[in-house]
Amino acid sequence: MADNRESMASTADLAEAAAACRDLAELEQLRVHWLGKKGMLTVEMQRLGSLDPETRRSVGAGLNRKKTAVQAVLDARRQELQQEHLDRRIRSETVDVTLPGRSGGKGNLHPIRQTLVWIETYFRQMGFEVADGPEIEDDYHNFTALNIPEDHPARAMHDTFYLEGGQVLRTHTSPVQIRYLETHEPPLRMIATGRVYRRDSDLTHTPMFHQVEGLYLDTSASFADLRGLLADFLQSFFGQSDLSVRFRPSYFPFTEPSAEVDVRCVICQGEGCRVCKQTGWLEVLGCGMVHPAVLDGAGVDQERFTGFAFGLGVERLAMLRNGVNDLRLFFENDLRFLRQFS
Ligand code: FA5
Ligand code: MG
Repeated sequence: MADNRESMASTADLAEAAAACRDLAELEQLRVHWLGKKGMLTVEMQRLGSLDPETRRSVGAGLNRKKTAVQAVLDARRQELQQEHLDRRIRSETVDVTLPGRSGGKGNLHPIRQTLVWIETYFRQMGFEVADGPEIEDDYHNFTALNIPEDHPARAMHDTFYLEGGQVLRTHTSPVQIRYLETHEPPLRMIATGRVYRRDSDLTHTPMFHQVEGLYLDTSASFADLRGLLADFLQSFFGQSDLSVRFRPSYFPFTEPSAEVDVRCVICQGEGCRVCKQTGWLEVLGCGMVHPAVLDGAGVDQERFTGFAFGLGVERLAMLRNGVNDLRLFFENDLRFLRQFS
């Protein structure tokens, strides 16, 4: 477009240049080139003043037509470009609702929770109801009602965390037995699961751990029933019908007679190791026939009903089933450990 007159003669050139513009910015440059303050048509218009009136009229009319034509070409191309821009945007912002969703990364239940779920399912199938109780307990429910009066040496076994105002962090789930008996009449079967707390920490003890409490009251509940139920439970839990289970006479103030139950150490197959303290056995639960003093306190008619109770350590069971050699691993939340239980 070196020569104005020549360029002006050709709106075909303009149409070609407009079509070559790839966006609105380029088109604006073209507009400035033709119609801007120093644009070709503008300059032509300014020259009109120097022409004689006769020529000015005809040249002026021609220029006006030209200007209208130029404007029309530019407007048409602008509309095209705007439409293209809009189409592109709509295409890029379209959501394909048929695409599969992005996964948020699936987690899995903590191994302790998995164990609790398994245990609850087992006992539900055996007709037990699942009950619940507070983790902050009073002295009465945690001790006294369980036949552990003040100054009783058994209190020392529990390494209790005391709170202000005489309350305690429950040291076992046995207080739930008492609470359940306050609101239910025998015959009954219940289990209670949850956290308990003791000032205790080594390979097989942690300050917080989980227990499952069981209580069974019926007209003919016997120690043989207790033994049969717990043996079946442990054999099912470990998936071994020939699992070695040992009932060892023991003492709990709230049961008489009492026993502790050990299973063959699965870490060393009974050879003796750090985990079982070289004994070949690991204690997993305590149990016994509910003590008459406890039944008395709960107002149970002992002419008609007898019962048994048990309390098992959930971490111990989870540890044995999965061959974990340190209980504390369950509480460190190391993902490399936890992912092995998915
Ligand atoms: C009790 O807590 C009794 N309440 C159990 C009971 C209930 C007996 C009903 C009779 C009738 P014990 O202190 O032994 O008993 O604990 C029960 C189980 O909890 C143990 O066998 C063990 O598996 C587990 N356990 C005890 N202390 C810890 C600890 N610090 N860390 C992890 N597990 C523990
Ligand atoms: Mg014990």
